[in-house]
Amino acid sequence: MHPMLNTAIKAALLAGKLINRASRDVDLIKVSVKQQNDFVTEVDRAAEATIIAVLSEVYPSHAILAEESGHSGNSDADAEFQWIIDPLDGTTNFIHGFPQYAVSIALAHKGVLSHAVVYDPNRNELFAASKGGGAFLNDKRIRVTKRAKIDEALLGTGFPYRMFDHVDTYLTIFKDVTRRCAGIRRPGAASLDLAWVAAGRLDGFWEFGLAPWDMAAGALLIQEAGGLVSDLAGEGNYLKTGNIVGGTPKVFNQLLQVIQPHRTPALQA
Ligand code: IPD
Ligand code: CA
Ligand code: CA
Repeated sequence: MHPMLNTAIKAALLAGKLINRASRDVDLIKVSVKQQNDFVTEVDRAAEATIIAVLSEVYPSHAILAEESGHSGNSDADAEFQWIIDPLDGTTNFIHGFPQYAVSIALAHKGVLSHAVVYDPNRNELFAASKGGGAFLNDKRIRVTKRAKIDEALLGTGFPYRMFDHVDTYLTIFKDVTRRCAGIRRPGAASLDLAWVAAGRLDGFWEFGLAPWDMAAGALLIQEAGGLVSDLAGEGNYLKTGNIVGGTPKVFNQLLQVIQPHRTPALQA
């Protein structure tokens, strides 16, 4: 295993341990509101500090982009390596004791995703991938399903949860996708939704308005599991636009075709 992936796994497991400990008494956890329906807890912050401490000790020259603390580490805009971290993806679930959340860590090398870890501390499931090396769940190789028709596909999605997040466009798309597929789930942690596509538990996924830390690790997991991901234009700029579609190669194509006619000027890519 590549030492950089190994270090990311170590950091994710430590953060997961901290999250598991805190989850035993969620009522004691202090919650603050960042903006409408966007919560942060002391657990998010502590998990992030743990991850950054592990990564920056081994790789002091790397840049870091993390949800709660923003940019740190190497401040050079052209830093060769950048870690992209969501210390606790699915905070709303976590606060409610709904056991669907994860730690997500990705590494981009010269802007290209090269290593990925998504760790689900509830199920002790570790999803990991390195570019060109395949995707794994607890050391077992994973692949997207062979599902070829969207009609038979189980899809994941994320609902917009702030009123300015293209709700009407999303709902029109939701109606259309519902008509076409076998079922839709909204588990509530984007990184894990993407990892579950990689593991073949879902056949596809779409969500708008995500941040890079929600998607970076999960996107590489899907690609390394033989699936496809893109933005709404079918291009590779999802980390910038925040909008992602992914799935098995055939389901991905059909899902994109259902979504694309509904694109508005504000939601092109
Ligand atoms: C959220 C989760 C959720 C998605 C939201 C994200 P957070 O991340 O991934 O599934 O729908 O858009 O913000 O805030 O819990 O890290
Ligand atoms: Ca997140
Ligand atoms: Ca988070």
